[in-house]
Amino acid sequence: MVNKKAVQLENFSIDNEKTAPLTTNQGLKVSEDEFSLKAGLRGPTLIEDFHFREKMTHFDHERIPERVVHARGVGAHGIFQLYESLVEYTRADFLTDISKTTPVFVRFSTVQGSRGSSDTVRDVRGFATKFYTDEGNFDLVGNNIPVFFIQDAIKFPDFVHALKPEPHTEIPQGASAHDTFWDFIGQNHESAHMVMWAMSDRAIPRSLRMMEGFGVHTFRLINADGEAHFVKFHWKPLLGVHSLVWDEAQRIAGKNPDFHRQDLYEAIEKGDFPEWELGLQIIPEKDEFKFDFDILDPTKLWPEEEVPVKIVGKMTLNRNVHNFFAETEQVAFHPGHVVPGIDFSNDPLLQGRLFSYTDTQLSRLGGPNFHQIPINQPVCPFHNNQRDGIHQMTIHQGQTSYHRNGLNANQPEPEPVELGGYESYQEKVEGRKIRGRSESFLDFYSQAKLFYNSLAPFEQQHLKDALSFELGKCRSDMVKNNAVALLNHIDRQVAEEVAGNIGAELPEENLEVKSDKKSPALS
Ligand code: HEM
Repeated sequence: MVNKKAVQLENFSIDNEKTAPLTTNQGLKVSEDEFSLKAGLRGPTLIEDFHFREKMTHFDHERIPERVVHARGVGAHGIFQLYESLVEYTRADFLTDISKTTPVFVRFSTVQGSRGSSDTVRDVRGFATKFYTDEGNFDLVGNNIPVFFIQDAIKFPDFVHALKPEPHTEIPQGASAHDTFWDFIGQNHESAHMVMWAMSDRAIPRSLRMMEGFGVHTFRLINADGEAHFVKFHWKPLLGVHSLVWDEAQRIAGKNPDFHRQDLYEAIEKGDFPEWELGLQIIPEKDEFKFDFDILDPTKLWPEEEVPVKIVGKMTLNRNVHNFFAETEQVAFHPGHVVPGIDFSNDPLLQGRLFSYTDTQLSRLGGPNFHQIPINQPVCPFHNNQRDGIHQMTIHQGQTSYHRNGLNANQPEPEPVELGGYESYQEKVEGRKIRGRSESFLDFYSQAKLFYNSLAPFEQQHLKDALSFELGKCRSDMVKNNAVALLNHIDRQVAEEVAGNIGAELPEENLEVKSDKKSPALS
């Protein structure tokens, strides 16, 4: 089976070791690369030395901005193979045609730390997959935890500012043990569920090969008849889910900050290819309001007992990158990269993400043509009437670059859908313009409690130890007390133990309250 992406990337590759002799960027053979051109052997270097200037200038501009979040990551190539056709649910070609093998590129990441931070810190892990399908790129930009900290994208800059190193000290660089993070959590009880996952062993994975992945948001699948189902995407590792213990994680962080990336690289090099099965949870449109949580709320998961995970295919990572910068660093994922048969829901976190990714990549990757970078190119033809822009690499031929022209054939694919044009799902939407959140988003604690109760006793102890360690590092009593007040809504015994360990106030028992905020009244 030909891997179209591998073939495409090969066409952009140069083997530096086999490409001789050394030339300048203008193709001029270089006779000497150790000594600059000088006026006399002990004299000053001459500005005329174009070879020195070119070499130094390029070096001076080697760095690009790191990602604003998920800066530290590692990537690998692979393939996705479908087990059974999902034609009942979607018209997406890579989810219906079992004869197809779809090339993929995956980037795993930590969220908080900078590019040079350590791999085994306590953090959420990013798990982003680009499927190079014959109908365009589909990006599943997920995490290793099935829920998120906030419900509305407008809070994301605040959340990240609280999570990142504090601005006056740039401390801490690789952990959540600080006042601003816990201040945010204590003031935003919608984070209750996610913070329990983040303090659990899930946030210190043994290996990237041993993590689950979750799309988190509710998406839609649309079949050829235009019928929609809600869907959540899951990756299940065939090696199972395994974690470090906190002491191991800390020691490894000090002794080998590259522990996870090295583990992934070496496993693939020796042919021990990591594999994940793709699972779908599917809810028919008619059942949208059947649950005691809102299926649009990204702080809630769909319990697998209520909505079973249907295993539909397998991903195998079988090839390391040739060049970290060209591939892993320059890859640009976007939850808005969808293909026909996959559409969005009105999850307010997802809706905001749809804006953020291209926007950040415009500055991270320098202008509007980063889709032409080899790792980002689809394997199917792509062309439209966009033109010019910084770093334009394509020579578009012909006279026209506008829609509704009579001179060429570069037009949108009209109906019917069989011709391939992407059709947004025609959901009926009506409402008054209002800032606020639905009442159905206000139960912050039930699933946090459910998660805690699902853990084995030793896992519960690890979680309480993690909370005590992290909160014990906070300087502000107010921050500690607020965090314990949040825990008090989730589990009394957890609140008691943590409060005792960190010397915080224990509030009255108060487990009945389900949320800390009212939604604004519609007048
Ligand atoms: C990376 C924004 C929530 C998963 C990023 C980046 C931004 C961003 C700006 C950097 C992208 C780049 O430079 O290429 C947001 C916003 C969110 C949000 C505004 C909420 C409103 C989430 C959630 C998930 C997630 C809920 C998981 C489901 C990721 C991953 C990456 C990433 C995996 C790294 C992608 C890579 O490896 O290149 N996000 N994010 N994000 N985000 Fe989000």
